[in-house]
Amino acid sequence: MKKILIAGNWKMNTNVESSTEFCLNVLEITKNMDLKFTVLICPPFVNLGNCISILKDSNVTVGAQNCWYEEKGAFTGEISVDMLKSVGCTYCIVGHSERRTIFGESDEIINKKAKALLKSGLKPIICIGETLEERNSGNTYKVLFHQLDNSFVGFSEEDWKNVVIAYEPVWAIGTGVTATPEQAQEAHHNIRKYVAEKYGDIASQSLILYGGSMNEKNALELLNLDDVNGGLIGGASLKVDSFVSIINSAEQILNS
Ligand code: 13P
Repeated sequence: MKKILIAGNWKMNTNVESSTEFCLNVLEITKNMDLKFTVLICPPFVNLGNCISILKDSNVTVGAQNCWYEEKGAFTGEISVDMLKSVGCTYCIVGHSERRTIFGESDEIINKKAKALLKSGLKPIICIGETLEERNSGNTYKVLFHQLDNSFVGFSEEDWKNVVIAYEPVWAIGTGVTATPEQAQEAHHNIRKYVAEKYGDIASQSLILYGGSMNEKNALELLNLDDVNGGLIGGASLKVDSFVSIINSAEQILNS
């Protein structure tokens, strides 16, 4: 059966009240569903506690959007992997394009974060993606393979089982412009092929999520693509209706 992960990246949105309301609603809707795949929400750090306490015995797991790789110490404003683990996080997004561009995160830092997460038993969702300029100048795969070479180094075979790749073309993030099914399948296929060539057979099992303006209207088509194993969803994960509709699309695919 196809492996699917539906992940919501809330970015810097919601507060304790609105995240609590979201979780209570999603809990109510999903509590009797027999889901064959993982549903994940990634709220801001300060809302992890309340979301996890509501969803702890539910069908929905909770992750973070970022972490720092050192264990503890003088890193004002940062959150360690151990802190995420102790609050009950299971996944953590790293290397989102917003962190790469706005906060200057390098592949080297992203790789260190991913390794720290893996060491503690959390699953990193590592994002890669090209800008429009890079795509238009024919450099899509040069960029993606460079990110794969440098953000994904030094993982053991066991680690690879817990690494999630998110392909998020930067030009599709928050723009309402989604990659066409052909563009998405081509990119996902080439990413999987590259991982197989470099890191071996494990690539056939790798989860490769698509992110970039995925919503309730296009999810079914995108999730149905051979090499797409789910979505990393921004805007549409903030509304219960659209997020649940995307969950239903994944369910429909696995039941067909
Ligand atoms: P949108 O779904 O809002 O385009 O955001 C995608 C994204 O960046 C998820 O990480």
